Amino acid sequence: MTLTVKSVARVSLVSTLVLAAAGAAVLAASPASGAASTLAAAAQQSGRYFGTAVAANKLGDSTYTGILNREFDMVTAENEMKMDATEPNQGQFSYGNADRIVNQARNQGKRVRGHALAWHSQQPGWMQNMSGTALRNAMLNHVTQVATYYRGKIYAWDVVNEAFADGSSGGRRDSNLQRTGNDWIEAAFRAARAADPGAKLCYNDYNTDNWSHAKTQGVYRMVQDFKSRGVPIDCVGFQAHFNSGNPVPSNYHTTLQNFAALGVDVQITELDIEGSGSTQAQQYQGVTQACLAVARCTGITVWGIRDTDSWRASGTPLLFDGSGNKKAAYTSVLNALNAGTGTTTPPTSTTTTTSNPGGGGCTATYSEGEKWSDRFNGQVTVSGTDNWIVTVTVSSPQRIIATWNTSASWDSANVMTARPNGSGNTFGFTIMHGGNWNWPTVSCRVA
Ligand code: XIL
Repeated sequence: MTLTVKSVARVSLVSTLVLAAAGAAVLAASPASGAASTLAAAAQQSGRYFGTAVAANKLGDSTYTGILNREFDMVTAENEMKMDATEPNQGQFSYGNADRIVNQARNQGKRVRGHALAWHSQQPGWMQNMSGTALRNAMLNHVTQVATYYRGKIYAWDVVNEAFADGSSGGRRDSNLQRTGNDWIEAAFRAARAADPGAKLCYNDYNTDNWSHAKTQGVYRMVQDFKSRGVPIDCVGFQAHFNSGNPVPSNYHTTLQNFAALGVDVQITELDIEGSGSTQAQQYQGVTQACLAVARCTGITVWGIRDTDSWRASGTPLLFDGSGNKKAAYTSVLNALNAGTGTTTPPTSTTTTTSNPGGGGCTATYSEGEKWSDRFNGQVTVSGTDNWIVTVTVSSPQRIIATWNTSASWDSANVMTARPNGSGNTFGFTIMHGGNWNWPTVSCRVA
């Protein structure tokens, strides 16, 4: 029998998600039976949360709150807990909009991430022109007052946001707060701990996702220093605002793992990825898998619900379209959450099948093998012929380091050609993944 198949498929982590190269379409299949059908329920299977940023002025929109209540179990106020919102005049605190978000979340059984106690941006006017001891004291008072007001209601606080410089310096960003002295960050953390000992205290930043970036290294050294000196820090937030100029790094898992190894939780705190269709879906899948692969990655928050709710709406960077429909990216995240259970118990084998576009009479089925922090195994079973040639293509920075039950050769770094070696029609291989957990593309033809 000859199977005719339209294209060689790029095989994803989940059997129900096949990104067809020709159609570039993500087939949005329903989750397998037994799999969770919302982001929160799927994340909870591995003890994680799935959150979103919420804007108080949208809580009256029933489409918005419908999705919020259904899909998410963690909430971050998009703007309402920032310094300008909570202390518009010095010493006068204003919590109305923040409370609307906190109360809505808690009434629905959701938890809250606090964002953000100290930041160079979105400061109230009175603070923007302050300096020296007066500013330091005003900042510490702000941290104390706000963290005390919300004591017991916050899962994790972004105590300090965006304090490192972009570019190659790896040092601190210049700001009025930084000019009060390099110890302003640890002073803020100590004040927050005293005010709410039950909240996890996070440092949060952007462009810290790629392990090789100087900014990532700078934050890493600060966290390492804080841990060594007993400064109270519990977590590091990775904002994860991605676009073509700032793509999802292939070493994201390495970054998250290295920070976690310092003894802090890691969280993806403001995820959005500009783009559309299968490309966007694959990138969302990669970020989700990077978190799932790190035991101390405790959850993911997306920065808004529908594309039209986004702070950069023109980039359509979220999981729901403007009408509230689930996008391909939604399905890829849900499926990745359903497939992943973390590092301690790797997902068991899931399979998918691809065949030769030329109708060469064979089918190659890839299935997942064991996973480790730096590599994973896969195997391919061929049916339809005993006289096959299978091509296995991996994506950078992956490389195949071992094979068994096949006679294989490499045409280039990424493409392996495998033939029978007398061991039957199932062969296997080991891929060093370099942080890229994507499955390889496989296709077969009759020799
Ligand atoms: C953004 C909000 O989404 C916008 O509504 C607001 O105008 C500006 O701030 N990093 C952060 C978030 O930590 O607080 C920012 O949120 C996005 C970048």
